[in-house]
Amino acid sequence: MFQKVQISPSILSADLCNLEKEIKAIEAAGASMVHVDVMDGHFVPNLTFGLPLVKRLREITDLTLDVHLMISNPVEFAERYLDAGADILTAHIEAGTPDELVTFARKVHAAGKKAGVALRPSTKPEAIDDVIESFDMVLPMSVEPGFSGQKFQPSVIDAMAEICAIAAAHNCKPLMQADGGVGVGTAQKVCTSGADVLVCGNACFCAEDYSKAISAIKVDAELGRTAGLKKQELLAQYL
Ligand code: DX5
Ligand code: ZN
Repeated sequence: MFQKVQISPSILSADLCNLEKEIKAIEAAGASMVHVDVMDGHFVPNLTFGLPLVKRLREITDLTLDVHLMISNPVEFAERYLDAGADILTAHIEAGTPDELVTFARKVHAAGKKAGVALRPSTKPEAIDDVIESFDMVLPMSVEPGFSGQKFQPSVIDAMAEICAIAAAHNCKPLMQADGGVGVGTAQKVCTSGADVLVCGNACFCAEDYSKAISAIKVDAELGRTAGLKKQELLAQYL
């Protein structure tokens, strides 16, 4: 768990004609990461960014490059995204067998980077039971992957609780990332349930003032984390 919640704005919602300006603006506004949604038109019904963009982003920012691969063949592409400069590389559990996902994580770790595993909203958390120990971060999606600006699906709250239980059973503590419809209100909910890293697309880039938007999300998130910790304390006291 990070000391404080980390904000990872998704550039899918940014002004792509002014991307460098957008990145500098989120740096100044208190973001710690840049979330890059890579889509291949097969794994999801949309096509977005690829290797050249990650490489170029690496040249212009020191923010953590948080690359979310929504592609059918993450194992095949892992090394190329790591070479391009990804710091956190996330693959979907639905995109491979457990063995392939473990191989993916091994490649990421061999490059000294962090590996994430993401789940579609309809995928049962137990799907990551065989692989969780290989990953530094788990991302249960709160929208169907493919597009920004969708409505937050509250079923992610139960998924997060199940993931925490699976992690505890394996004696590991991966970071929890929230992605999809996260902003003021939903940030508090996901952070009460253990989220450490919040991806914000529309909630950040569609705001008038990025600093105010990110600060408001951080306050909401910390309220949620405090409530989550208090709940754990009370459970320990009463159960
Ligand atoms: C959806 C992407 C998200 C998306 C988030 O497939 O993984 O990262 O850009 O956008 P918002 O925060 O607007 O839901
Ligand atoms: Zn994403």
